[in-house]
Amino acid sequence: MNSKTRMLLLVSFLLSLLMAKYYFRNKQGGQLKLSDWFKPRSRFDVIATTDWLAPVVWEGLFNRQPLEKYYQKQNITVGLAVFAIGKLAGNDLNLFLQSANKFFMPGHRVIFYIMVDTYPNLMPMQLNPLRSFQVIPLHEENWLYNFDLMCMKFLGEHILEHIQYEVDFLFSMSTNMVFESEFGVETLGTSVALLHSWWYFRNTKNFPYERRLKSAAYIPFGQGDFFYGSSIVGGTPENVLKLINEYLKDAIQDMENGVNSTYEKYLNKYFFLNKPTKLLSPEYSWNPKFKPPPQVRFVKVSHYPRANF
Ligand SMILES: *[C@@H]1O[C@H](CO)[C@@H](O)[C@H](O)[C@H]1NC(C)=O
Ligand SMILES: *[C@@H]1O[C@H](CO)[C@@H](O)[C@H](O)[C@H]1NC(C)=O
Repeated sequence: MNSKTRMLLLVSFLLSLLMAKYYFRNKQGGQLKLSDWFKPRSRFDVIATTDWLAPVVWEGLFNRQPLEKYYQKQNITVGLAVFAIGKLAGNDLNLFLQSANKFFMPGHRVIFYIMVDTYPNLMPMQLNPLRSFQVIPLHEENWLYNFDLMCMKFLGEHILEHIQYEVDFLFSMSTNMVFESEFGVETLGTSVALLHSWWYFRNTKNFPYERRLKSAAYIPFGQGDFFYGSSIVGGTPENVLKLINEYLKDAIQDMENGVNSTYEKYLNKYFFLNKPTKLLSPEYSWNPKFKPPPQVRFVKVSHYPRANF
């Protein structure tokens, strides 16, 4: 063997060592593939995957175990922001928190961001060491002017100031919800939207999108993917912030033009333009007044819709 060949052999040997090391490291720490936890072909009675290939999380389509392993290793922290404003809020908030404490991301670090106008009478709770609370008082005179706008403005400010440094994923939910069973890592994603439990089962044609051309929330007839519910949004803090900023921009522009729309309609426009990477099925926000259809096998969160005040 001449020295050149020997050199070449040595180099290729080192290269293969390097590649093996790389391969094994990736195997251990590596990325989670959708197919590792999501089985869209397990059910044919529901929409399992969107046109843009985002998974729709239904009972029976996912396997939590590989996700648990993955996110445990990632040592994640999940934030849950909730607004408790007005007279009825106290009672709602207690039910919400008691159930969230039990069922929201069990086994993972969670920070509850409780945004209140008056300090709430919280019922004592058995907190496990992975859970913490931040009660954030909101001072604002103009609550009644536009509730959703004010809430989102505050949430945006707090994401910028501290939440973005404290959590890996963030959900914002309304207080009038009660967790019935595990709301776990299957719901995590960079941009998470909820399928509206009523409109999922209705015809696209009738979706209550904003139809006034002048509004920034306008979606033309014949367009749109789903009707999304406003009781849950989620994603990375950066993505939730992006959604909030778009909403504020559009809502303020419309206000100036005298065409108010609703938060839910702006949200629908946002997700029409910025497709969510994960969708939650109506199981994640079911109104118990209605008997679930066979597609809804397992209600994870009950939603008690009512006016804001
Ligand atoms: C996980 O994260 C928390 C807070 O971010 C930190 O205090 C803790 O040391 C981390 N644990 C590991 C094993 O990295
Ligand atoms: C917009 O809505 C708010 C409350 O949601 C209302 O007070 C205001 O008058 C409305 N403005 C217009 C131009 O419709």
